Amino acid sequence: MTIQWFPGHMTKARRQIEEKLKLIDVVIELLDARIPMSSRNPMIDEILKGKPRLVLLNKADLADPGVTAAWVAYFKERGLDALPIDAVSGNQVREIAPRCKELFKDKIATQIRKGINPRAVRALIVGIPNVGKSTLTNRLAGKKIAATGDRPGVTKGQQWIKMGTEMELLDTPGILWPKFEDQNVGMRLAATGAIKEVLLNADEIAFFTIRYLAEHYKGQLMERFNMESIPTDLSDPNEIVKIMEVIGRKRGIIQSGGRVDLDKTSMVILRELRAGKMGRISLEAP
Ligand code: G4P
Repeated sequence: MTIQWFPGHMTKARRQIEEKLKLIDVVIELLDARIPMSSRNPMIDEILKGKPRLVLLNKADLADPGVTAAWVAYFKERGLDALPIDAVSGNQVREIAPRCKELFKDKIATQIRKGINPRAVRALIVGIPNVGKSTLTNRLAGKKIAATGDRPGVTKGQQWIKMGTEMELLDTPGILWPKFEDQNVGMRLAATGAIKEVLLNADEIAFFTIRYLAEHYKGQLMERFNMESIPTDLSDPNEIVKIMEVIGRKRGIIQSGGRVDLDKTSMVILRELRAGKMGRISLEAP
């Protein structure tokens, strides 16, 4: 899904989330484990206004487990509980309800003390497009309910999905916009497939990706594309292009005249990265 975000859309999206916040006790902030900061809404703290929050690092199956652990520690230092999950396979999804209840346990204790029978803890998922909100909602519901094409502005009758006996989830997640100002953020969002149609070309995104991989995942890069060596001076753009040419040649992506087709090579690099073919890779570390 692609949303062209304009100031009007952002205002509307924000207003919709603020309406939903009135109905719920806990927010589930969904981030992409491979790029937690880049997949985060820049105004999230301001929008959530101190609601108890669980951070979920989704697509953890594609991310580097060591880097993901560092992110969990990063969020913990900032007072936020973060849980890596995989909404597609359902890995760690069962852990969400107890973590949410834990965040709300003081309020529940107060209710019990006052003699009030505590109702189910109510939660809302929020996140930028493509981070996995629908996939997670469907998994928690045990059926397909959230339309993947949901857009801000489309309000449906909202329903509660039961998560175990003491938790309920609002079935329409809150859609937030990503950061726009920082070009590297755009590159990371595009590299992971969060932004489909971008203002950036595939070769620019692949160039950014290859440079990052050559710096941080040299072994995986060399193994995937059967390369004997990687240049050491990665600050020289020509060296990065040379790596891309080697990859193109290995894959037989040759134009007439014997030159490597860099556009097609770039597509291959990005497709393989997104599908996890190069192994588990994170494009951002704390
Ligand atoms: P959204 O509602 O937040 O917009 O995201 P959605 O659930 O539609 O998920 C976007 C894509 O991410 C989907 O791929 C979905 O399968 C994938 N995805 C969601 N959670 C996970 C996860 O934990 N691990 C992995 N590996 N993938 C996940 P898709 O339908 O194939 O769409 P696309 O790849 O064409 O974008």
